[in-house]
Amino acid sequence: MLSDMTIVLGVTGGIAAYKAADLASKLTQAEAEVNVIMTESATEFVSPLTFRALTHWPVVTSMFELSSEFSVEHIALAEAADIVVIAPATANIIAKLAAGIADDMLTCTVLATEAPVIVAPAMNVNMWQNSITQENITKLKARGFTIVGPEYGRLAEGMLGMGRLAEVSNIISTIKQVLGRNGDLAQRRIVVTAGGTREAIDPVRYIGNRSSGKMGFALAEAARDRGATVVLVAAATSVPAPAGIEVINVESVAEMKEAVIETTKRADALIMAAAVSDFRMAQQTDQKIKKERGKVSLGLVGTEDFLLELPDTFIKIGFAAETENLLENAQKKLKEKRLQFICANDVTAADSGFGTDTNKVTLLYSDGRTEDLPLMTKREVSDVILDRVVTILEGKKD
Ligand SMILES: Cc1cc2nc3c(=O)[nH]c(=O)nc-3n(C[C@H](O)[C@H](O)[C@H](O)COP(=O)(O)O)c2cc1C
Repeated sequence: MLSDMTIVLGVTGGIAAYKAADLASKLTQAEAEVNVIMTESATEFVSPLTFRALTHWPVVTSMFELSSEFSVEHIALAEAADIVVIAPATANIIAKLAAGIADDMLTCTVLATEAPVIVAPAMNVNMWQNSITQENITKLKARGFTIVGPEYGRLAEGMLGMGRLAEVSNIISTIKQVLGRNGDLAQRRIVVTAGGTREAIDPVRYIGNRSSGKMGFALAEAARDRGATVVLVAAATSVPAPAGIEVINVESVAEMKEAVIETTKRADALIMAAAVSDFRMAQQTDQKIKKERGKVSLGLVGTEDFLLELPDTFIKIGFAAETENLLENAQKKLKEKRLQFICANDVTAADSGFGTDTNKVTLLYSDGRTEDLPLMTKREVSDVILDRVVTILEGKKD
């Protein structure tokens, strides 16, 4: 989604300026056109040549020096920008933006642009917590700027505290989220479940499954990038929480049920990508079960199917992870669970299912149609699923 976007990256004079090189590189790899504007102080930390080499575009460092590498009219980049991102943003630039000062190319560009602006502060903890900085941040937020970070961690001075530049992956997620604000899922609330639930056997053991959570997280990110408000109900997963998404962590089926019932109250769609345990212990035990020789039986009962308890006020999409008779089993699940469609995937295939970054799914619709999708990344599969969700939601409006 970043391809063909013009991103103006403002780099200011903080220690974290070197991290902006990674950001510029990743955005360029994602096929965005990245035009870097550096403040004079920023050039003390990183050479403009670094950004020029990474982005393949000239770097603006001065408003007046016509002999500089890239002399442009002072508001040309403001007009060209789809989005302006300032990372790292010093306390100084934040104060200047809050006051409307335009004394260099970056501040002029921000003042002149109609594009959304993201600010990623990075500074010493006391500078960040200073009430002047906090008031300036409040002003910027009130004017529609998006602030990402700072995060807690080790600062350049060697101490721990708030002030570290947000992770580059979070800054990129925020860029996608802001650019997707007016996407085809704007004003929609989508609840996605992800990961594998765990049912306690005793206080130290559990029944789990091999779900990595990657499919559900990819769906949540894709929905966010198309403008939806996304809630992710996440059972056990190895994937880090994505930026701009409300994550509710759960463990058991009962916890997932409670979270889904609560979060779908105003939802437009629920996408159940989590691998929900089919069994739980019949009897709860408070003590660790002792090792025994020979056969040990665990008394299991089936878990309740909470999907059937949900109202029909929103659309429901499910997943069927199967190891045999894929389509027959998925068809059965589609009917039993009263879903609009189900995504059937054969989890025995090497490039599909648990833990992989790709998936090959067949969509089975409640009206009997089926749609075979080719092998795609989980993100690409997510976008096709969301295309179908949008079609159903638009149909519901008529
Ligand atoms: C070694 C060094 C590190 C600095 N790191 C930061 C920083 O992380 N955040 C910050 O707000 N200012 C930092 N400063 C102070 C800024 O460089 C200074 O406020 C400067 O005027 C910012 O200019 P600019 O906002 O135009 O880039 C640092 C200064 C020095 C000398």
